[in-house]
Amino acid sequence: MGPGGPERFERTGIMTKNFAHRGYSGKYPENTMLAFRKAVEAGADGIELDVQLTRDGEPVILHDEQVDRTTDGTGWVKDLTLAELRKLDASYLYAGQYGLNPVPTLREYCEFIRDLPVITNIEMKTGVFEYPGMEKKVWDMIREYRLEEKVIISSFNHYTILRMRELAPALKYGFLSETWIIDAGKYCHEHGVACYHPMFRSLTQEAVAELKQYGLEINTYTVNTEEDVRDLAAKGIDAVIGNFPEMARDVLASLQS
Ligand code: G3P
Ligand code: MG
Repeated sequence: MGPGGPERFERTGIMTKNFAHRGYSGKYPENTMLAFRKAVEAGADGIELDVQLTRDGEPVILHDEQVDRTTDGTGWVKDLTLAELRKLDASYLYAGQYGLNPVPTLREYCEFIRDLPVITNIEMKTGVFEYPGMEKKVWDMIREYRLEEKVIISSFNHYTILRMRELAPALKYGFLSETWIIDAGKYCHEHGVACYHPMFRSLTQEAVAELKQYGLEINTYTVNTEEDVRDLAAKGIDAVIGNFPEMARDVLASLQS
C-alpha cells in the first residue's frame, strides 16, 4: 500500500478517505484494469466502479448503458454477449497510448483486489435497465472473494439497494443522489441505509449536520479540485470520490502538517 493507504489515517486522525472514481480516470481510461491498478499505485483508499450485466448475464464494469462513448464498438451493454464485449477496446480517449484495454469483468477486478487493503465502492448501474438478478450475481462474487468487509454497494436506483440488502443484510449500502435532497439523513435512516453518496455541491453545512445527526457515512462525488477536497475534508466528509486520487492524496496529507 502506498503513502495514501488507510494506515495514514490511523496515524494522523484525518478521517477523509480518497476514492478513485472509475479508477484513476483523470489520467487513464475509466473503468479499466489499468485505471484500477494506477489508482492503487496512487495510494487511493478506495475504488469506485460501475457494474452492469451483459446479454449472457456476466457482471461487467462500464459506466454508460451503451458502449459507444468509451469503446471502439457500438450498442447496448445488455445486448452484447461477454465474448462480443471483450473484443472491444475501452481505451477511448487514450486509444493507442496504453495498448488494448478490454472492458473488465467484475470477476477480473475481484481477483485483482482480493488481497489489497482497498475499499471497493460497487455502483450498481441500474438507473436505466434494472438487470434482474444482478444483485445476486454481485453478492455471490463478493462472497466468493471474501470482500464482505471491503465493499460499499451504492446505486441511484434505491430499489436496487433495498433488494440487495434483502439478500445480503450485512453489507454496507449507500443511496446515491445527483440532486439536492431535503432531509436526506432522515430518508437514509428510515430505510436503514448507512451511507449517503451525494454529488458534492449539495453538501452545505446544514446538509452535513443533518446527515451526521443520523450517523450517516458521507461519501461524495465527483471531487476533482484541491479546493473542493480541502473544503470537504474540513466538513468531516468520510470519502471524496474523484478522478485524481494522487492529487486528493497529497491535499489530504498536507492537511495533517
Ligand atoms: O458513485 C459516484 C458516481 O460514480 C456516481 O455518478 O455517473 O459517475 O456513475 P456516475
Ligand atoms: Mg459511478
